[in-house]
Amino acid sequence: MTDLRSSLSEAVSAAFAAEGVATALARVSASDRPDLADFQSNGALAAAKALGTNPRELAGKIAERLAGDPQLVSVEIAGPGFINMKVADTALSARAAEVAQDTALAGASAVETPRRVVIDYAGPNVAKPMHVGHLRSSIIGESLKRLFRFRGDTVWGDAHFGDWGFQMGLLIVACADEGLADGFTVEGDGPFPAESPVSLDDLERLYPLTAARAKEDPAFRDRARKATAELQSGRPGYRALWTHFVAVSRTALEREFGALGVTFDLWNGESDADPLIPEMVAELEAKGLLVEDQGARVIHVAREGETKKKKLDDGTVVVRPSPDPLLVVSSEGSAMYGTTDLATILDRRRQFDFDLILYCVDQRQGDHFEQVFRAAYLAGYAQPGQLEHAANGTMNGADGKPFKTRAGGVLKLHDLITQALEKARERLTEAQLGTDLTPEAFEAIAHQVAVAALKFAELSNSRTTSYVFDLDRFMSFEGRTGPYLLYQAVRIKSLLRKASEQGLSPGPIVVAEAAERDLALTLDAFDAAVADAYEKRSPHLIAEHAYRLAQSFSKFYAACPILVAPDAAVKASRLALAAAALHQLETALDLLGITVPDRM
Ligand code: ARG
Repeated sequence: MTDLRSSLSEAVSAAFAAEGVATALARVSASDRPDLADFQSNGALAAAKALGTNPRELAGKIAERLAGDPQLVSVEIAGPGFINMKVADTALSARAAEVAQDTALAGASAVETPRRVVIDYAGPNVAKPMHVGHLRSSIIGESLKRLFRFRGDTVWGDAHFGDWGFQMGLLIVACADEGLADGFTVEGDGPFPAESPVSLDDLERLYPLTAARAKEDPAFRDRARKATAELQSGRPGYRALWTHFVAVSRTALEREFGALGVTFDLWNGESDADPLIPEMVAELEAKGLLVEDQGARVIHVAREGETKKKKLDDGTVVVRPSPDPLLVVSSEGSAMYGTTDLATILDRRRQFDFDLILYCVDQRQGDHFEQVFRAAYLAGYAQPGQLEHAANGTMNGADGKPFKTRAGGVLKLHDLITQALEKARERLTEAQLGTDLTPEAFEAIAHQVAVAALKFAELSNSRTTSYVFDLDRFMSFEGRTGPYLLYQAVRIKSLLRKASEQGLSPGPIVVAEAAERDLALTLDAFDAAVADAYEKRSPHLIAEHAYRLAQSFSKFYAACPILVAPDAAVKASRLALAAAALHQLETALDLLGITVPDRM
């Protein structure tokens, strides 16, 4: 199935070719002046320049060739040589009908060659509470997972659980100091207690304490380092205790992610890559990639001539290779964050034979990924281009700095969801929406509104920019918000319900009115929005389309009566348009991870 823009591009290409002009210039885009045209091509300008001819004249010749195209009612030259095209109502109707009948993709298209893709997102950590910093990556990753799958790729979403670093040693030592680890500190093979000695509350209380103490207390830090190394080398009691940490954390995290509608196919942890490390280190060594550096072993990833200047504490400036080398084995013999990431790539290579790994992670980790990717390419675990950091900006507070609660702490995801839910209940009550339903049904809707608000706020911003967290604005039923879109979708649902109660059903689409044409053009544009969002790893483009569609529908609904249209054929056509709009809107929202309630 092709959208109008592509089929017009082909027609314009053919006309360019016939005039002996490079077809690469024949790009067609939506018109900047919807009052004058539906589509435009600016290619004649550049082409005339290259050929040294007059652009208006060239545009005129191309327009003449296009004039016979049955898809078009008019082709006009504007300004210095823009070609303005207006699509025939018949072509528009046919395309809208195609979209309406496309139950699977709602007018979008699948990729030509499906790939095997791992999406690494959320990256929650054992014991550390999840906070709004993890929110962006979770929401973006969830959406990209849906988008890639929708277009036909085979996708694994992986939480890449942070269960292996220094914080594990910190927790072991902290538990020991509080007398919580008694059954586990004994040497030997156990048996060890089957019950977890710690609750989630314990973990959340202990982690910040230990992290702070490690900064001040070198002896404590050293014990924690040692515990980390012992855990990683397999001390049975520590492993048993750690298993409890992981299980307790994961249960809580799954619940919180679940509440947000974020799910994973894999809950692999950093620890899952651990068994591969000895073999990986040996292989890197054999390939001559691993070099000694002040007691540690590193991989140099900077290429010849890639350097940066660095000012040392004493003020002298040195020139260093850049990016920094990847630290693979620390001087204490431990695996580092980069080590597990590299081993995870090897693991994913073997398990999934991926074509692409997308890392949806904060842009502040950009240097880390640059190092890891280069190391993986050097090691041959991936081909250049197969590893990609889809970086996201930060979520800021009103002060423009990364968001903090009023008390100055990071906002826990759990508290965020609770706050959003409260606000959603308030807003629904104010607007008298859902208030006639049972309390359970109202609660379910409030939940959907809360999630829609958070997710749409995230995804209506471009991935890389930072945005300001403002729950009041996110939760408004007006403007570019999740609640507005849900409300519009629910309105269409109720309209369709009414129609079917009156025994009306959708029929052949015949567009005629301006608002009908506009809606049909919007439905047509979904294909390009989805493809661009996919290419740029940018769900934001789908969010924009969803908003445009809701607005386009709103205008159509105001201008073109449906249930009271004078003519049965007109009613049936408009109903079909409404149904197509709803299906596409729900599809777009689903790609953003947002579910539409049946009523409100
Ligand atoms: N757990 C990490 C953090 O909280 C994020 C993990 C991102 N994914 C990765 N493969 N490194 O910072």
